[in-house]
Amino acid sequence: MSNNLLKGKKGIIFGALDEKSIAWKVAMRAHEEGAEFVLTNAPIAMRMGEINKLAEHCNAQIIPADATSVEDLENLFTQAQEILGGKIDFVLHSIGMSPNIRKGKPYNDLNYEWFLKTLDISAISFHKVMHVAEKQDAMNEWSSIVALSYIAAQRVFPDYTDMSHAKAVLESIARNYGYRLGRSKKIRVNTISQSPTKTTAGTGVGGFDAFFDYADKMSPLGNAPADACADYCVSLFSDLTRYVTMQNLMHDGGFSSMGISEDIVEMISK
Ligand SMILES: NC(=O)c1ccc[n+]([C@@H]2O[C@H](COP(=O)([O-])OP(=O)(O)OC[C@H]3O[C@@H](n4cnc5c(N)ncnc54)[C@H](O)[C@@H]3O)[C@@H](O)[C@H]2O)c1
Repeated sequence: MSNNLLKGKKGIIFGALDEKSIAWKVAMRAHEEGAEFVLTNAPIAMRMGEINKLAEHCNAQIIPADATSVEDLENLFTQAQEILGGKIDFVLHSIGMSPNIRKGKPYNDLNYEWFLKTLDISAISFHKVMHVAEKQDAMNEWSSIVALSYIAAQRVFPDYTDMSHAKAVLESIARNYGYRLGRSKKIRVNTISQSPTKTTAGTGVGGFDAFFDYADKMSPLGNAPADACADYCVSLFSDLTRYVTMQNLMHDGGFSSMGISEDIVEMISK
């Protein structure tokens, strides 16, 4: 159902890889709500070609950019403003990748080169995006920037290894840039801490099924699905949330406030 919440708004959406991607769902919802946007992903991710289907559906252009490359980001913001015919109203950073997780390295045997890559791709890229946007003065006043995080930034999930540090850095960047951009141009910056979600990045984490089920049983509302996350992103891009900034917003069905649930007690007592 559309309420035209994003009518007239222009955006950049990072991270739609396939239909399961959170960014994919956000693009579909943003389109439904009347937004115009460009899609972007790492050149290597384009090879799968899935993103073309989304672009066609949303009438969006695709601009490849490696989010760790300032040069690529400069080109992206310049082109996006040309294509959309003006400054940007919303940005979604939906990017995460850990070579250590991908290659099954445990926490006490991390490859430190890869650790730096994890931080660069999954966290510092968020800083680079805002740095380029600020330098080009590419964002409108009252625009909104959102990145996706996970509760492993605050709590220990052993198999999430170096990504937990990346998420802690990501959330800190949101606060610090949120201050700066809020002061200079009333731009808001937030992270959404999303429930475990069955996507390529999500299911790549060891033991994913166990912590998906655990979180589901622990949360009074159950795990928040990707579609609901897309709704939440749309609300943050809209004018209805203009004074929400520098927050890490839990979108987790209540998980983060729980100690133990009756479902978990029952499971363990069996
Ligand atoms: N799936 C979950 O359980 C879950 C939970 C909480 C938060 N998140 C976060 O949501 C975000 C989106 O992940 P997802 O679950 O939709 O998985 P996904 O695999 O569909 O998306 C990850 C995206 O990051 C992109 N990416 C990787 N390296 C890049 C680079 N150098 N430059 C540009 N893009 C790059 C990938 O191409 C992909 O599109 C990530 O930040 C992830 O950590 C996911």
